[in-house]
Amino acid sequence: MKKILITGGAGFIGSHVVRLFVKKYPEYLVVNLDKLTYAGNLENLKDVENQSNYKFIKGDIVDTNFVQQIFKKEQFDGVIHLAAESHVDRSISNPMEFVYTNIVGTVNLLNAAREEWKDQLENKKFYHISTDEVYGALGDSGYFTEETAYDPHSPYSASKASSDHLVRAYHDTFGLPVVISNCSNNYGSFQFPEKLLPLFIHNIRNNKPLPVYGKGENVRDWLYVEDHASAIDLVFHKGKIGETYNIGGNNEWKNIDLIKKLCGIMDNKLGRETGASEKLITFVKDRAGHDLRYAIDSSKIQKELGWKPSLNFGEGLERTVAWYLENKQWLEHVTSGEYQKYYEEQYVKREK
Ligand code: NAD
Ligand code: TYD
Repeated sequence: MKKILITGGAGFIGSHVVRLFVKKYPEYLVVNLDKLTYAGNLENLKDVENQSNYKFIKGDIVDTNFVQQIFKKEQFDGVIHLAAESHVDRSISNPMEFVYTNIVGTVNLLNAAREEWKDQLENKKFYHISTDEVYGALGDSGYFTEETAYDPHSPYSASKASSDHLVRAYHDTFGLPVVISNCSNNYGSFQFPEKLLPLFIHNIRNNKPLPVYGKGENVRDWLYVEDHASAIDLVFHKGKIGETYNIGGNNEWKNIDLIKKLCGIMDNKLGRETGASEKLITFVKDRAGHDLRYAIDSSKIQKELGWKPSLNFGEGLERTVAWYLENKQWLEHVTSGEYQKYYEEQYVKREK
């Protein structure tokens, strides 16, 4: 049986990756290592938590001894590293957490993998999940390719850029079998309602203002989270050691246009009069260092690994809105701190 470590598996993207791997690969033991910060929630994994090929370990990747012991004990065959502090606004108010988790945490994992795999590197893989934000900001035209020079602007993107460099350095210096992918903005179920789409869905439902930063002119490329998970599956199994793959939805939206589209879907789903949700739009002070535009050229992964997004955006957004409206309890739990209790109950039960 292959043992795969997935870090950050209780978060938004991680939970989709864990679910995909547990269901698709019964011959793997999928070990989810997560600190369960505010963004980590075991409720995201209720449907797989009792599967015999799934195991949860609570722990902090910043804790060097803990990481070394887990690697020694579990003898992983592969690592998919998603654990991170992931929200740009939080990185502006508290950069240190990003330095600890995203940089120090990543190096702890690299060191532990290097130590445990030193006599047998064959068939091992350390897969680091990163973001398009490391490339900085584009003007009105152009795309990020795998060759674009790094130019991060927020403490979040700078910490991710730093971790990407370290992952590559461990490949070049120590021969660690690594692979990296850099993806654009994900959307879908189980995303913590601090990020644009779930926050605005939550606010529209509760008739609260929709705080649009600046003039809403920033552009993001949006990819359905399950399509990112399928790309991760491909890169993990077929990606070439030492390579980088850009992943994107080929789906650029100016924030204000996206928000108006969302408002239209919400009016329809909530049975409100057309235009009711748009009235909640409130322009607020811009985010400091706000990158104007991200856009990904994903031709490499499409050509070399045969990946492409499966869903068109209209369908993905409809599905996403429907999920948040149907899963009110999930939203209430994550916004009230209730999920911490859920974890404690689950964890105590699991320890026995
Ligand atoms: P998230 O914030 O939803 O989840 C992060 C997870 O990591 C949480 O479960 C959290 O508990 C865990 N974690 C945080 N600090 C930890 C620590 N010190 N030790 C162990 N676990 C810890 O993030 P996400 O949006 O799912 O992003 C996952 C990864 O994908 C990140 O590396 C992020 O940089 C990258 N990424 C995200 C996006 C996006 O649009 N969300 C796009 C591209 C890349
Ligand atoms: P976000 O979901 O935080 O992702 P990222 O900053 O990683 O791209 O934000 C997406 C875009 O939406 C970004 O341009 C900032 C903007 N935004 C708002 O206008 N208002 C908000 O309340 C939030 C959270 C984001």
